[in-house]
Amino acid sequence: MAPTLIAERRAFQRALLGWYRRQARPLPWRTSPSLYRTVVSEFMLQQTQVKTVLPYFARWLQALPDFASLAAASEAQVLKLWEGLGYYSRARNLHRLSQAMALKSAPPRTPAEWRELPGVGPYTAAAITSISFDAPAACVDGNVVRILARLTADATAHRDSASASKSFQALAEALLPAALPGDHNQAMMELGATVCLRQNPRCLICPVQSFCAGFRTGRPGDFPRLAPKVIEQRQVLRVWSERAGALLLHRSPGNARRLANLHELPTAEQAGIPAATVVRGTKLAQKRRSITRYQITEAIHAMPAPRGRPRLELVWVPLDELESISLSGPHRHWVREILAGRDSPTAADQRVNRSKRRSGPSS
Ligand code: ADE
Repeated sequence: MAPTLIAERRAFQRALLGWYRRQARPLPWRTSPSLYRTVVSEFMLQQTQVKTVLPYFARWLQALPDFASLAAASEAQVLKLWEGLGYYSRARNLHRLSQAMALKSAPPRTPAEWRELPGVGPYTAAAITSISFDAPAACVDGNVVRILARLTADATAHRDSASASKSFQALAEALLPAALPGDHNQAMMELGATVCLRQNPRCLICPVQSFCAGFRTGRPGDFPRLAPKVIEQRQVLRVWSERAGALLLHRSPGNARRLANLHELPTAEQAGIPAATVVRGTKLAQKRRSITRYQITEAIHAMPAPRGRPRLELVWVPLDELESISLSGPHRHWVREILAGRDSPTAADQRVNRSKRRSGPSS
């Protein structure tokens, strides 16, 4: 496995923990920890960076300070508080988890018990139980894989990050101290987030540089070796349609795997308008984003309101109510941008100039 590192594990743990005590960012779930704050932060931090999570965490704790208030909250409030963080199944799972907690006489304490709760995978179970109950469970995610692959100058060509995580689980456990495993796990996360960076690792200030075989190779950035992701391009056509001061939106059904109960601008297909018709409408915006292995280009075209009763899942939302419903994060930005763009002085000038040109020079 990595005999030298394991033999030196006590010195490694001391160096890492000493650095964490001196340098860790004073994050709100660390400075005044509780089980609830740990659980909420771990859910928010799945796939999301600390700096993005911080304002959401503060708003969430203000509105829903404990498991009981979360269990009693409506799904609409939960989704509204989560709006913009993405991966909305996390919010619904956290909601359901707090309802399950309300039925228990005491919170579970082991990773296996936590994994039975909604939305809790091996990483989250290890994080929650090591931080809150000193459980001897090692957290392994992409950051930890990167650190361990560099420490051991691991030359294995891993198929993907899931199989790399699996192959480093045993080493992560061997390095975990019996005392304060939660601090050790958080120190590893902190090292991955602030020092052992994916690009340009900051080896000169690394507290465990002397243990690092990757550093000694002179090319720490070469580890871990992961097969490059195959990126797929996708094109999506979306419709911007207004009628009597209301905007047409698609609301995903409550049992949808992604985006349940969230609103988005409808795709051409959802709006029931042929793509060939949609592309003839004025293009209001074109946006690019990446979701997992897809790079998606989305074009938003203005369209007259579809005739007749809207299809199920399509809703007309008055423009002055848009801020109070839940839109997915990117769509919130796009809708605000399109509305602000046409209300801006520049847009107004352009409209005046266009109408002047149409009516000819004034005398
Ligand atoms: N990422 C996942 N869990 C974390 C934590 N507790 N602190 C910082 N980053 C994290």
